[in-house]
Amino acid sequence: MKVLVVGSGGREHAIVTSVAKSSRVDKIYCAPGNAGIAGLAECVPINAMEFDKLAAFAKEKEIDFTIVGMDDPLVGGIVDVFEAEGLKVFGPKKNAAILEGSKAFSKDLMKKYKIPTAAYETFDDPKKAVAYLETAKLPIVLKADGLALGKGVLICNTLEEAKAGVKEIMEDKKFGAAGNYMVIEEFMTGREVSVLSFVDGKTIQIMSSAQDHKRAKDGDQGLNTGGMGTFSPSPFYTAEVDAFCKKYIYQPTVDAMAAEGRPFTGVIFFGLMLTEDGPKVLEYNARFGDPEAQVVLPRMKNDIIDVMEACVDGKLDTIDLQFEENAAVCVVLASDGYPVAYEKGYEITGLEKFEKQDGYYCFHAGTKFDDAGKIVTSGGRVLGVTAKGADLKEARANAYAATEWVNFENKYMRHDIGKAIDEA
Ligand code: AMP
Ligand code: GLY
Repeated sequence: MKVLVVGSGGREHAIVTSVAKSSRVDKIYCAPGNAGIAGLAECVPINAMEFDKLAAFAKEKEIDFTIVGMDDPLVGGIVDVFEAEGLKVFGPKKNAAILEGSKAFSKDLMKKYKIPTAAYETFDDPKKAVAYLETAKLPIVLKADGLALGKGVLICNTLEEAKAGVKEIMEDKKFGAAGNYMVIEEFMTGREVSVLSFVDGKTIQIMSSAQDHKRAKDGDQGLNTGGMGTFSPSPFYTAEVDAFCKKYIYQPTVDAMAAEGRPFTGVIFFGLMLTEDGPKVLEYNARFGDPEAQVVLPRMKNDIIDVMEACVDGKLDTIDLQFEENAAVCVVLASDGYPVAYEKGYEITGLEKFEKQDGYYCFHAGTKFDDAGKIVTSGGRVLGVTAKGADLKEARANAYAATEWVNFENKYMRHDIGKAIDEA
């Protein structure tokens, strides 16, 4: 069969890598893709937000199955456009992708269906938000309602910071229309875990857990980024936590969406905080995590097309989802200066070493071919170096060893990805 993957980052490279392993797939296209994806798929220069062009392409090439990796097109309704054209597509419809697209929606859903999350209030008026802050306990968390590239969350330690945050989000519109509404919520403490799941509208199956490192610098210092590295599984995601989440979070979320007339098909990403009072939902995403996909998918034993097709067909209960009994660590190689300002266009060397090593992956995020056909840096996050190991410590050692195989000017990485493993 012919498969189209929509997106261009490390997550989509991981998805394409899994699709390429499927015995059912003869040809993969990726729109728009990147220089690494081009090794496995034919990259098509159509932007992920050009739904009509993408659907026309899928019809012309007789694509059997489309997988949407990114949040923006999902929240924008790409799945509805494909389905209206009779095309088979993996991902939530617009009315379900709102689970990620609006924090006010997801918080209200959790409140209505008693799914554990931080206490909160929603505001559409900055004056009311400030009045609320005057009496609120600190620290406090401000969230722009809509999509903001993972940057619309402000953790404020003082009232002044919080007031400035309201101004940034709601008045200066730093995150655009995402700031028309705002959620102000209670600050929680605990370990964070990312749990990805496959959902077919009614059934949910959980993938192996992971943990991300969102801050730019070692010791969780510096600005929030798209993610600087991950490990899977999380040793803090115990059987007890899993049982609690299955009962109070996962299935209740899927049932709530169905009850609201918004059945969810695709991947739900649960961002969880393991608090003293038990696991609570930090956020939902309507897609695989990036770079969570880069440590979870390489460990999945199933044929990814079988699983995704079962989701679209409403038959996920027939799938026996299985993961390898090992571990994986991903270290992101970024351009120095990310997430603020950085230079691009530097040649990347050493990539060929990954082709010969089982259990090692170099997922491209911000790369492209220059005019001379060389692979060069083209983004803040450039590569995600993933390695497997028998356990987390071995996987971490392998991943850090492999970060030395590739080089480019301004290469930057955190050196403490997976440090929490030592505390488990
Ligand atoms: P989100 O985009 O909602 O996942 O938020 C980004 C990051 O902000 C999370 O990964 C947490 O580290 C942090 N965060 C979000 N909400 C809270 C909260 N209520 N309490 C503490 N930290 C939070
Ligand atoms: N790694 C966090 C995310 O994909 O949202």
